[in-house]
Amino acid sequence: MFDKSVEAFPAKENSLFLAHCAISPMELQAKKAACDFLEAMAAGGISGLPPYFNLLPRFHRKCAELFQTDAANISATHNTAEGMCLLANGYPFEPGDEIISYIHEFPSNHYPWRLQERRGVKLLLLGDCDPQGNLSAVKAPRGWSMADLVEKVTSRTRIVAVSHVQFTSGYAADLKELGAFCRERDIDLVIDGAQSVGCLPLYPEECNVAAVAVSSWKWLMGPFGAGILYTSEEFRDKIAVTMVGSSSMQQGLEYLDHSWNPHVDGRKFEYSTLAWEHLAALNGLLDSIFLRYTMEGIREEVFELQDVFLEHLDRNLHTPLLFPKKNRSGILAVLPVNGGARLVERLGKHGIVVTERSGYIRMAPHFYLTPADMKKAAECFNMEAKKR
Ligand SMILES: Cc1ncc(COP(=O)(O)O)c(C=O)c1O
Repeated sequence: MFDKSVEAFPAKENSLFLAHCAISPMELQAKKAACDFLEAMAAGGISGLPPYFNLLPRFHRKCAELFQTDAANISATHNTAEGMCLLANGYPFEPGDEIISYIHEFPSNHYPWRLQERRGVKLLLLGDCDPQGNLSAVKAPRGWSMADLVEKVTSRTRIVAVSHVQFTSGYAADLKELGAFCRERDIDLVIDGAQSVGCLPLYPEECNVAAVAVSSWKWLMGPFGAGILYTSEEFRDKIAVTMVGSSSMQQGLEYLDHSWNPHVDGRKFEYSTLAWEHLAALNGLLDSIFLRYTMEGIREEVFELQDVFLEHLDRNLHTPLLFPKKNRSGILAVLPVNGGARLVERLGKHGIVVTERSGYIRMAPHFYLTPADMKKAAECFNMEAKKR
C-alpha cells in the first residue's frame, strides 16, 4: 500500500535515514510545490501571486483534516516555540497561578512557560519516572507519571504543558487519560506535537486538548521553519493577542483602517506575512502522504519496522527503552551498553543516519523504509557496538 520507492524518497539512494525525530529529508511533492511557488515569485513577484491565493485556506482545511477538527481552529506558524509563546504570553494568568510541565521537555515547550514567572506564575515540573511510574534516579530521561501529576496539581493549576512524545526517550503520553484528567479539573492541556504529528494520530477534540503546537520538518517531512498550531475555540477565546501585524485584523487589505478588530478564528495568531512556499509544501505532503495513508496506517507501519529492528538487535550490546503500546512512539531510544558516543559516527559510515540525545541513540524510521532496511540497521548497530 505504501509507496516506498527511491523515486518517491530519493534520500534512500545514499542513506538509511533513521532520524525523523531530528530534521527530515523534505518530502518530494512538498519540495516541488515549494519550488513552483518560488519560481513564480522569482518571475513576477506580486503578479505571480493570484494562482496561490487559495494556499492559506487550503492549508487550514488540510491541517484540519489531519487533526480531525474544523479549519477555523488551525493557524500557520513558523515553529513550535512560536506557537507556545503566542499561547503562554496571551494566557490570562493571575499571580499565583500554576503551570505543570515535565522536567525534560524540549526548550520550545519549557521557556515560553518559564517566561510567565515574571507575571507571578509558578512553573512546576514533573519528575522523571521509570516505565512502572517510579521516580527515577537514572540520568537518561524516560517519562513522567500520572501519580506525580496528581500530586502536583492544585486548585491554582491552569495549564498542563507536555509533549505528546518526549524527544529523548520517545515516551508517548496517553492523551485520552491526560485529557480526561484535565477536563475534570478545568485545566487547559497544551501539547507539543513536534515528535508525534506525522507519525501518531493526534485528534485534540477526542482528548480534550486545548492546543497543539507543531514543527513540520520532523515526522511530517516538511520545510525547516514551518509550523502548525491547533487551538480549540474556547481556549483561543481566552488568549489575548501578543503579536499583531498586517494580517491580524478582519478588515484584511484595508490597511489604513486601523480599527481594532482581530480575527477570532485561527487567523488570530497569523499576525503578518507568512512563507507561502511553506504552505504550498505542507499542502503537497498532506495530500500525497498523510491524508492518503492515514495516521493510523503510518503508525502501525512504523511500529512494525521498529519490531523488525528489535528482533535483530543484540540485547547484550544494546538496551532498548520499551514502553507499553499506548506509550510507544516513532522514536525508539536505544542505550548502547558500552556507551554511544562514537556509535553515531560509526553508523554514519554505513550510511545510517541516527541522532543521539542524553545518551540514547534515537532510532526514528518512517513508513517508507522496509523490513530489510531495519534488519540491516540492527546488524550495523551490533557490529559497530562490538568495536571498542
Ligand atoms: C518535542 C520537541 N518540540 C519541539 C521541537 C522543535 O522546536 P521548534 O519547532 O521550536 O524548533 C523539537 C525538536 O527537536 C522537539 O523534539
